[in-house]
Amino acid sequence: MTAAWDLVIKGGTVVTPSGRSVADLAVAGGRIAAIGALDGIPAGAKASAVDARGMVVVPGGVDAHTHLAMPFKGGTTADDFASGSRAALLGGTTTIIDFAAPGPGGSLEKGLDAWHRKAEGESSVDYGFHMTMVGAPERSLREMDRLVRQGVVSFKLFTAYPDRLMSDDGAIFKALRRSRDNGALVSVHAENGPVIEALTREALAAGNRAPRFHALTRPMAAEAEAAARIIALAEMAGAPVYIVHVSAAASLAEIRRGRKRGVVVLAETCPQYLYLTAEEYERPGFEAAGFVMSPPLRPKGNETALWQALRDGEIQAVSTDHCSFFMKRHGRSPCKEDGRKDFSRIPNGAPGIGARMLLMWDAVQKGRITAERFVEATASSPARIFGLHPRKGNLAPGADADIVVIDPRKTHSFSASNNNLNVDYEPYEGRTVHGAVRDVFLRGRPMVRHHALVARAGGGTFLRRIPR
Ligand code: URP
Ligand code: ZN
Ligand code: ZN
Repeated sequence: MTAAWDLVIKGGTVVTPSGRSVADLAVAGGRIAAIGALDGIPAGAKASAVDARGMVVVPGGVDAHTHLAMPFKGGTTADDFASGSRAALLGGTTTIIDFAAPGPGGSLEKGLDAWHRKAEGESSVDYGFHMTMVGAPERSLREMDRLVRQGVVSFKLFTAYPDRLMSDDGAIFKALRRSRDNGALVSVHAENGPVIEALTREALAAGNRAPRFHALTRPMAAEAEAAARIIALAEMAGAPVYIVHVSAAASLAEIRRGRKRGVVVLAETCPQYLYLTAEEYERPGFEAAGFVMSPPLRPKGNETALWQALRDGEIQAVSTDHCSFFMKRHGRSPCKEDGRKDFSRIPNGAPGIGARMLLMWDAVQKGRITAERFVEATASSPARIFGLHPRKGNLAPGADADIVVIDPRKTHSFSASNNNLNVDYEPYEGRTVHGAVRDVFLRGRPMVRHHALVARAGGGTFLRRIPR
């Protein structure tokens, strides 16, 4: 039996959502074969051994919210599946779920085909897709059923961006109701689009054109109102709902209210809402544009409620919403500079795919969350929510051997010069965290060893996910 093992990771502190222990972890055929007490597992004849003494061993991160190679205004985001997944791996993330957009004529299936072409042979991490829906005509609802059968089991609708992406309440309700029957999970970007549009027009008419007005025209109440509405729609549809990138304490209050009524509301936040505040919009020159994202960064103090909700398990997942745009012009790519004279033209989004795991591990070392909560929020819980359990986010026999070895004694400093991305800036530039990703294994294959990529790029596979 032991001779069949390919790899044994020895003597690390293995952390799962339910606890931690010093253990050895054996891998065979790309899956976890056994986990045992120190010295309980002898290395098999063929197994290579990795000394993890003094290290922390966690499941590979599952980032359930990325936008790679996303088309925007005639170009695409700065990072594609090749660069984004490389940064993900080096940062300890082995699975991503990216947002596919509808294709020509609004076809979900054509959009999905396009996303398969973008990712296949390019992604170095395993990947799934959520499908974005704009409205919910009968044709899309039928496509939704078919996508679920192809392992695309989650769909995102927007209450924001009236000009491009917004769906009305009726459409969101129809998608939710369909999800009740076909086992999909609907997620929603909650911000009141028409209110934001009115505030934006007012700001521009008054000559308020700097990046900071992006935040001032997207108030927290606009998020909380949309969250409350979505929860009511989910309640009427009898379906669960997942609220992406929750940024405002006021939204948490609505989520709590909905849950008290029995609505199944799942909530995600992102490191930027935990670590960064609206103070970034006071940066000199045009630097603030790098932090223009939706929802925007919130006033200092708001983040305290998010940390508390993360500790308490009120927030289930921490994902990145990685959506990177160059600051400066690079060929035809849209860039932040496009909005130098008008904040509403700054492409929304920021990079973060490689920083998430270490930012959140730093919170463990600082005592803000436990190591178990770290594992839950960065891997196990997104895997469960999005139909990847028991394969992903799970250090247990039979699961994919996606394993990350963190050196808790090392530090890591974030910089555009070392973030492994194409994008030309780093939101956490100069920030140092405790902990460094030493090794990463994807389905048992060494991808990162001693902080360096060691594997051929592009070996990630598409994950057919399981409906609820
Ligand atoms: O600003 C952001 N978040 N851009 C990405 C698209 C979205 O809304 O998630
Ligand atoms: Zn969004
Ligand atoms: Zn997003």
